[in-house]
Amino acid sequence: MSVATPPAKSPTPTAHAMVQIDSQQRASLALPWSVLLRHKFGNAFARMCGRRVHGQGLIGASAQSVQGGFAGLAQGGFSHYNLPQVWVERRALPKAVHGRVPLHDASILDIGCGIGDSTWILSKCGNASWRITGIDLEPGLIRAAEARAAAGEFRGRDGGVVKTAFGVADISAADLPDHPKLRGTTFNFAVSCGVVGLYLDPARARQLLCSLRVMLAPGSFAAIDCGPSVPRWTMQRTAESLGFTFLGLVRSVPLDPRPKLLLQSGGPRG
Ligand SMILES: C[S@@+](CC[C@H](N)C(=O)[O-])C[C@H]1O[C@@H](n2cnc3c(N)ncnc32)[C@H](O)[C@@H]1O
Repeated sequence: MSVATPPAKSPTPTAHAMVQIDSQQRASLALPWSVLLRHKFGNAFARMCGRRVHGQGLIGASAQSVQGGFAGLAQGGFSHYNLPQVWVERRALPKAVHGRVPLHDASILDIGCGIGDSTWILSKCGNASWRITGIDLEPGLIRAAEARAAAGEFRGRDGGVVKTAFGVADISAADLPDHPKLRGTTFNFAVSCGVVGLYLDPARARQLLCSLRVMLAPGSFAAIDCGPSVPRWTMQRTAESLGFTFLGLVRSVPLDPRPKLLLQSGGPRG
């Protein structure tokens, strides 16, 4: 007697399926080198001519200077200042997200979202079932992000509007998880794009990681940029001491000097 072989089951998306970003989609998000080089040469030329460049000296500055500097940039010049970050993130974020964010109903935290450029890139990796919460220190930048949301700018691959919420907070505040826009939400993914490694110090970065331990679902991922203010080894040792597992680095390009640390949450501890 012959036994009929059952047809192979086609893979169907499940609640646990993770988002996949293929090379074609990555290429469509990446900006050409010429955009970055034109910006760098433009700034170098402005300095040569004795002109002050918007945001100059903010990296590694004191918390007070960072706050004042971004308040000034919110009045004008933020998009120009942030262009290199956008260039980096359009390459790095799709790599960080790939295989690590649930395809459906993901809740994502954008740490230091500015006017929502990183939120926009995250949206482009997802779909209308995603919800992204952006937090930033500077009210003027958050107002700009909210205006973009109201204009329907944050859209997923499916063209649907991604749900967003924005709030003003210092990401290194000890009571960050109690913020009204964050309280009661368990995040599946948290990302910092050009924020922690540039504008915090090691103690404040540690405080943020303590908050993430509370806000992230156990087993979920975070991608946190390191840089001159919080170097890679400092960030890695701190994260591991708090129960995160270090999984590797995400770089926009092979020699990216400010990679993101890819961390997996072990959940809150006693
Ligand atoms: C270079 S911008 C990057 C913005 C956004 N992540 C992106 O990729 O387009 C850095 C952002 O970090 C924010 N920031 C710096 N220190 C912060 C802090 N302690 N708490 C919250 N936001 C902060 C700034 O206000 C600014 O919007």
